[in-house]
Amino acid sequence: MPTIGEILKEIKEELSQKDISEFQVEAEIIIENVLNISTEKLYSNLNHECSKIEYEKVKKILEKRKKRIPLPYITRECYFYGKKFHISPGILIPRPETELLVDRCLYNISKSCNNNLSILDIGTGSGIIAITLKLIYPHITVSALDISKKAISLTKKNIKLHNLDRKINLFNQDFRDHLNIKYNFIVANLPYIPKKRFPSLPAELKFEPRLALDGGEKGIEIIANLIEILPDIVKDNNSKVILEIDSTQLKYIENLINIYLKSAKIYSLKDLSGKDRVIEISNIT
Ligand SMILES: C[S@@+](CC[C@H](N)C(=O)[O-])C[C@H]1O[C@@H](n2cnc3c(N)ncnc32)[C@H](O)[C@@H]1O
Repeated sequence: MPTIGEILKEIKEELSQKDISEFQVEAEIIIENVLNISTEKLYSNLNHECSKIEYEKVKKILEKRKKRIPLPYITRECYFYGKKFHISPGILIPRPETELLVDRCLYNISKSCNNNLSILDIGTGSGIIAITLKLIYPHITVSALDISKKAISLTKKNIKLHNLDRKINLFNQDFRDHLNIKYNFIVANLPYIPKKRFPSLPAELKFEPRLALDGGEKGIEIIANLIEILPDIVKDNNSKVILEIDSTQLKYIENLINIYLKSAKIYSLKDLSGKDRVIEISNIT
């Protein structure tokens, strides 16, 4: 049977031939997942011979990945904010850009003098944002909401994984029907891809759920719905709303905010590639 080093080389070659740009990292993840080892262990055991079963498992994963199925849907795990989470098909795979949303929430929580803060994560998906915030600030009241039943059941699994049972309030609901509770902070990464962009999306994105990506004709329909109801769901004028957006939509969203929330202030933050990625809305009520 081949050694770990030989398998690593084989996976890298096959993935790069398929134009998978992250072939180096993905090759490591595949081996680590099959052998249940860390990256350090992988590189200190390059001459270790794999068993037939392990090699067959690697081959199976490789075949699926070559069909452009995103790797996290095959290994059923992903990383966010340095922590491991369960992921499954039907739920959006967390993106590194979304960490900026968490950074901004953490900044606001750390600046607040209120010891009874509440925060709602709208469109929680796998629960990554709500869980990360609760792990860092256990004293705040964290709620997570998603219209998708599958998302809520995966969030439950991730809550268990991080030993937060019964510590996060869950709502399987459309946010437009969640008008009876008010929060200090709202955080949301809602679908924002314009309909017309779908045919030209990378092959991997076609495996992800439309419900998590499709933002309507211009990509801002769902975000617009949220902006409209914000005065009903924020506690007071110190409340903040932190949203992930597509950089091309900033102008449209600013217009919507000016229409629906007359006195609101908007602050935008750029991601590592210099694109407007997060907006913070304050002075809402
Ligand atoms: C872009 S994904 C974000 C998932 C996760 N928060 C993340 O950042 O990885 C958007 C999520 O919003 C949910 N969603 C879409 N429309 C919704 C609605 N009207 N009410 C509540 N959730 C909704 C989808 O089911 C999906 O899980």
